Amino acid sequence: MTIATNPSVRSQSAARATASTPAPQAIEIRSFDGAVGAEVLGLDLSQPLSAEDFARIHRAHLDHHVLVFRDQRITPEQQIAFSHRFGPLQIHVLHQFQLAGYPEVLIVSNIVENGKPIGLGDAGHFWHSDLSYKDKPSLGSMLHAQELPAEGGDTLFANMHLAWDTLPTHLRDAVAGKSAEHTYLSKYAELQKRSPWRPNLSAEQIAEVKPVVHPVVRTHPETGRKALFVSEHFTTRIIGMPEDESQQLLAELFAHSVRPEHLYRHVWAEHDMVFWDNRSLMHLAAGTPDHLRRKMYRTTIEGDVPF
Ligand code: SIN
Repeated sequence: MTIATNPSVRSQSAARATASTPAPQAIEIRSFDGAVGAEVLGLDLSQPLSAEDFARIHRAHLDHHVLVFRDQRITPEQQIAFSHRFGPLQIHVLHQFQLAGYPEVLIVSNIVENGKPIGLGDAGHFWHSDLSYKDKPSLGSMLHAQELPAEGGDTLFANMHLAWDTLPTHLRDAVAGKSAEHTYLSKYAELQKRSPWRPNLSAEQIAEVKPVVHPVVRTHPETGRKALFVSEHFTTRIIGMPEDESQQLLAELFAHSVRPEHLYRHVWAEHDMVFWDNRSLMHLAAGTPDHLRRKMYRTTIEGDVPF
């Protein structure tokens, strides 16, 4: 039996269905040749994301660890909304560099206006995994290019699963069952001496970044893969080890992690949006010549307590 429907009711319900269930986009995931990363083609992040597209992006993120979305003309609200699909967002301790009206967005920039830095200019100066100094470090971060220099400004990523998979046996034995301390303040004074971007921290800010302890080798909570989880920037010592041995071991782990075969170097193009997995990778900002301007918007998604 066919039930006749008033055409205006039919078109209203079709419009409602379209608004609530976005159509899938023609996405293609193109893997890079090297150790890590893929480009996502055919996805416009300014449009609502269907459940199917979200599932494909989620899977690709777990498989490739860095996803590059080209030419995304998105607003801060849209970046926040897309980031939020993956979990709650974290607010960076340097509140000075939040985008006005959007505390979830950290401005990463070397631009100084009227004598004042507009963003954190030396973010990523040392290899690190974002917010590893928190009890719940970041799941992943999204960085959206706002203004790019004519040269420099690349971001490097190191695959910490590969770092673990290829770790020599004597280093595997040395880290078995070990934990390490992560501290936001570890290199703060050193960075403060040479840059205008590191304000003195208030007592509240210092209280927000108390040292934490995490396993040296973590298990990815979604894929079950193991990854080395120590970094040059935030890891200060291996717990229960004499200081000199701990420093020596950390230096060997850092050197191994960033071997060229573990790396992907992202050369930014206008309006790129890059989404990486902080549970699988470390990253480094390669640096921008002082006379050139670079401005990026970063959102950071909260992850799990590492195990
Ligand atoms: C960061 O460490 O989050 C910033 C990386 C970059 O600016 O390339």
